[in-house]
Order: sequence, then C-alpha cells, then structure tokens
Amino acid sequence: MSSRHRAPLESRVYVLAAGEASDVELMPAGDVTDGVVRVGGTIRRPHQPQSLAVAAYLDWLEDAGFDGSPRFLGRDAEGRDVLTFLPGQCAGPVPEAWVRAEELLVSVAQLLRRLHGASAGFLPDGHPFPPRPVRQDPADLVCHLDVTPQNVVVRDGRAAGIVDFDLAGPTTAFKDSFNTAMHWVPLRDPADGWPGWEDADPFRRLRIFADAYGWDAGERRRLPAFGIEATALSYERMEHNARVLGGGWARMWDEGVGGMIRRRGAWLEANAGRLLDALSR
Ligand SMILES: Nc1ncnc2c1ncn2[C@@H]1O[C@H](COP(=O)(O)OP(=O)(O)OP(=O)(O)O)[C@@H](O)[C@H]1O
Ligand SMILES: [Mg+2]
Repeated sequence: MSSRHRAPLESRVYVLAAGEASDVELMPAGDVTDGVVRVGGTIRRPHQPQSLAVAAYLDWLEDAGFDGSPRFLGRDAEGRDVLTFLPGQCAGPVPEAWVRAEELLVSVAQLLRRLHGASAGFLPDGHPFPPRPVRQDPADLVCHLDVTPQNVVVRDGRAAGIVDFDLAGPTTAFKDSFNTAMHWVPLRDPADGWPGWEDADPFRRLRIFADAYGWDAGERRRLPAFGIEATALSYERMEHNARVLGGGWARMWDEGVGGMIRRRGAWLEANAGRLLDALSR
C-alpha cells in the first residue's frame, strides 16, 4: 500500500475483503499485551494509548522503504489495531537452541542497523509517544526498544522482521542497540541463563553483534558503563510499571524480574574489563 492510498491514522478502518483469509490463531502470549491473534494475513492487537504514535512510525518506515516491520492497516470493527502478519518463526518465551545461531545474531544486528537508518528524520509530531516512566532518555531517534528474540521474525535462519512496537519511542540508536544486544547475546548473570545456552560465550557474541551492527571505537569504550546505567534505570522503570500499571508488569515483578535485573547489573560491573577487551581486541 503506498502512502497515496492511506487514510489518516484516526479514521483508518480495516475491513476484510471478500475472499480474504479469515482463519484465526491465538499468538504466543508475551508479558504484557493479552489477546494478540492472527486473522488470515493480519495481526489483531488491543488498541493502546501509544497505538497511533506507533502507527505513524510504521507508516514512516514503509515510506522509507524498510521491509522489516508490519504495516498498520487500521482498526477493525472491534476497535483492535490491525497490522500485517509477517510470516516466519519467533522464539518462544525461553529461546530455543536454534535462536543461538551466530548467523542469526549477525542478521539481527544488521536488521537493527537498517531500522535505525530508515528511522532517521521521523518526528513524532501529530501523535507523540507517551513519556517514558521515571525519566526521559536522551533522545535523537525514534527506535523500537524491545528487540527481543520473541519480537524478531526469522526466515531461513535470518532476521527478516521486527514486531511488537509497543515500547517504541524517542531514544538513541546506541541505547536501542545496547538493548538489543542485551536480549540477544544475552547479557545476564549466568545464573539466569536459558537452558541449552550454558556454553554460549557472551563475550564472543557481543563482539559479533558489535561488528555486525557497526559500533565505533567510542561506542565500544562506552558500552560497559552505559549498560550498567541502563540496567539501573530499567530496574527503576520495572518497579514503577509494576506499581503504577499492574497487570503483566506486576506479574513479572512478582516472578522476580527485579532480582534478575540487579544480577545483570552486578554481572556487567564484574565483567566490564572482559567486555571492553572483547570489543576492542
Ligand atoms: N505482525 C506480526 N507478524 C508476525 N507475528 C507476529 C506479529 N505480531 C505479533 N506476532 C507474534 O505474536 C507474538 C505476540 O505478539 P506481540 O509481541 O505483538 O505481543 P506481546 O509480546 O504479547 O506484547 P508485549 O510484549 O507488549 O507483552 C509475537 O511474539 C509473535 O510471535
Ligand atoms: Mg512481544
């Protein structure tokens, strides 16, 4: 769909065309948003306060020629957001062994770099993103900020798409790329490691990510301290969301996500030298 044919975001309505597939499948549940379903070639998600800001960003990405994000098609008769379904495979809640492939890690970093290139110039004017909890990030670019294995669509062993733009908003490319590396390396205390990932080498994987994304020397030097600070802020935000928003946030908090984030921070501090070494060798 080209921008010429798109209705304004507020009045964009999606109606199934005659003969269009309408079989329904419940999608794997994430942590926060309940009730994500596929209907034929579309995804239906509950409408959220940030939905139109996200939709404007998705329109921008489409116009910029980025092919790795869903299109916002409008809202259906039930008021749900309708997005294009990106065919492929996403990781489950505990990422499977296939998610470890280094070629996949490389392609995630490259896809993220392309997303950042395509995002340049986008200004959320008509539909601002909601403010970040606790305090704002320094910001010069709208990015995704939740590029987890569950939110990347994989085809033929390579990252082909990124879904679930619920946390998108103004930040920096470095923050989004740190966050993505954190999820995909992953950067966490080995005590919190996923089954089947025990012998994955986080230092080697971080270097692979850095080379494929293209962090410069300055970014590599900043990485450990930046990660420690980002982890401390993410603890505060999780705690805030659990208290103020409840729902899935409170569930995650009760399940101990705060302790996991604290252990990540301690692991980053204890391994700052090794991380720097791996990035600069
Ligand atoms: N546009 C899409 N194309 C293909 N698959 C999708 C798409 N959107 C979502 N999915 C699939 O549905 C799953 C859940 O959807 P999504 O990530 O949007 O919500 P969620 O993770 O439940 O939300 P949250 O992260 O806010 O809790 C994804 O992990 C992915 O497997
Ligand atoms: Mg998700």
